[in-house]
Amino acid sequence: MGAAQSAIVTGANGFIGSHLVRILLQRGWTVHALGRSSKGDAWHDRVLKSLAEAGWAASPADLANLHCHEADLARPDLGFPGALPFRPATPSVLVHLAGDTRFVPPDPVAQRATNVDGTLNVVRALRPVTAQIVHVSTAYVSGDRTGLVRESEADVGQGFHNNYEKTKLEAEVAVQALCREYGLPLTITRPSIIVNDTVTGSSSAFTHLNVLVEVANRIQEYYGIGDGEVVNHEIRVPVNPAARPNAAPVDPIAAALALIMESPAAAGKTFHLCHPVPQANADVFDMVMAAFGINGKINLSYVSQLPPPLTRTEEMIARAFHVYLPYLNQSATFDLANTRAIIPDYDRMFPAVTVDYLHKVIAFERATRKRDAAATPRHT
Ligand SMILES: NC(=O)c1ccc[n+]([C@@H]2O[C@H](COP(=O)([O-])OP(=O)(O)OC[C@H]3O[C@@H](n4cnc5c(N)ncnc54)[C@H](OP(=O)(O)O)[C@@H]3O)[C@@H](O)[C@H]2O)c1
Repeated sequence: MGAAQSAIVTGANGFIGSHLVRILLQRGWTVHALGRSSKGDAWHDRVLKSLAEAGWAASPADLANLHCHEADLARPDLGFPGALPFRPATPSVLVHLAGDTRFVPPDPVAQRATNVDGTLNVVRALRPVTAQIVHVSTAYVSGDRTGLVRESEADVGQGFHNNYEKTKLEAEVAVQALCREYGLPLTITRPSIIVNDTVTGSSSAFTHLNVLVEVANRIQEYYGIGDGEVVNHEIRVPVNPAARPNAAPVDPIAAALALIMESPAAAGKTFHLCHPVPQANADVFDMVMAAFGINGKINLSYVSQLPPPLTRTEEMIARAFHVYLPYLNQSATFDLANTRAIIPDYDRMFPAVTVDYLHKVIAFERATRKRDAAATPRHT
């Protein structure tokens, strides 16, 4: 590990944050977890709950170096009037994960405020205790680009699929300018689409894999059928079978993020945190059908448009896939040169999608569905 062994983590209860906090604590870091209480739960309890959801039955000794601080990044002082309520023993690595990750936010202006102004609030307010910043962006700041996207590239005049991508690029540009002004070393990391944990199949965000599984669940529910049963034998899906959406499981991504935090050579660089060998849609869809026991019983035809009339099944698929289609049909590939240079074993950290993994995702999604039947839907 590098000299700094103290981390300040925003968004610590989030999907990536909870996995990262677990890994950092297990590797001996002191972690200051920043975030907010919800209506029902105090911040500290939310963090503990998220660690349990990330599959960690932590003992009190495991959590001895975890310190939770209530913070709202919408406020310039993060809600710490006067002095900061904590002073780490050593200058810290600030990992900024918090953000509004919705593709369809109810208020795009508020999303920009969270993702751009919130990032600057965090850097400014925590400057006195920060030695280095690791800003978590997204590979999809590349927007609608095609071909090879290099880690060194950012704004090349691309268009965006949604406000989320646009505000994440704006945040990168703004945090770079602020860190330059402050003379603070900045590392930018850009994960791709993060999907379910490889060990448990769980996810605290609604992932692209959850979408595939959930639409199959809904079709089964609508027709009153179970695994291995089908109603329609021909189904059209508006997906390019050869496209390789870059979906990477959360556990290797959080592990890679921790390794980047520990590398003295990471400062000043940008790192794609993407799957090194993404699988083609046709292969993943085949495995999803195998996991539901319906392979060979349905002929999927891949089409660029879904002209009406649509069957009820096709309608359900089209509605569920709508905001995910740009990612399912992406033709950009992400250069991993910087990431592989810092983490020589990077490629070996990523297992391929298998039917066994999808069974875990299905079991997780069904259990969550049952438990949350009446609760607010999760978002991505
Ligand atoms: N998941 C992906 O597929 C993916 C892919 C690429 C990049 N990323 C990036 O990785 C980061 C983490 O993603 P994630 O999937 O872990 O996100 P997530 O599960 O949606 O968690 C977002 C976190 O941000 C916090 N947050 C939002 N607004 C806040 C505010 N005003 N004050 C304090 N905390 C606030 C949330 O707190 P509450 O729980 O209180 O709302 C939550 O802890 C994001 O910056 C995202 O852009 C994610």
